Amino acid sequence: MTDLPLTVRHETPADAAAIEKLHERAFGPGRYAKTAYRLREGVAPIASLSFVALVGTLVVGSIRLTPITIGQTPALLLGPLAVEQAFSLIGIGMSLIQRAVETAKAEGHQLILLVGDEPYYSRAGFVVMPKGRAEMPGPVDAQRVLVLELVPDALANVAGPVASLRLNAA
Ligand SMILES: CC(C)(COP(=O)(O)OP(=O)(O)OC[C@H]1O[C@@H](n2cnc3c(N)ncnc32)[C@H](O)[C@@H]1OP(=O)(O)O)[C@@H](O)C(=O)NCCC(=O)NCCS
Repeated sequence: MTDLPLTVRHETPADAAAIEKLHERAFGPGRYAKTAYRLREGVAPIASLSFVALVGTLVVGSIRLTPITIGQTPALLLGPLAVEQAFSLIGIGMSLIQRAVETAKAEGHQLILLVGDEPYYSRAGFVVMPKGRAEMPGPVDAQRVLVLELVPDALANVAGPVASLRLNAA
């Protein structure tokens, strides 16, 4: 499709407009009504865990992670993840997930939660959240609430409502 090399780097403030347009194309206006969006509303993505994929200078993919709590336990919410349709199915989405997961692990985070397709995210090790362990703040298909343990048994005693963690709240 292209001979230009793919690069993955941290998101910068200058990428915001391109990412917003990518989200608009990938998810449409319905994105604001999703339960996962509620958890992200008003919460800044964690800069060290937000990456863009570029082909040349063109932003073709984006991943963001935000801080949440599950009960009393701090965790990360993965999303949105979006890849420009013209550049889909060439591994960009998985590269972004892997980069974010590796970085989160290196930073000492324990758990990543997301709402998405298990057949896709299971490729990166995500599993369906065990029943009754995470109470989402809105309607969601329980089979789409997925979790990844970054350290063994991180999920062992975790249960409760999922809430956003406003680290920078005034
Ligand atoms: C879902 C998305 C991020 C995938 O990104 P991508 O760069 O195209 O995916 P990758 O190249 O990493 O992976 C492609 C592989 O995953 C599979 N795949 C892609 N989306 C899938 C899905 N929703 N369910 C199951 N498998 C999926 C492809 O069939 C392909 O399989 P193959 O390797 O056997 O050929 C991208 O299609 C997208 O942005 N979609 C619209 C927004 C969206 O739905 N985001 C995810 C929110 S949960």
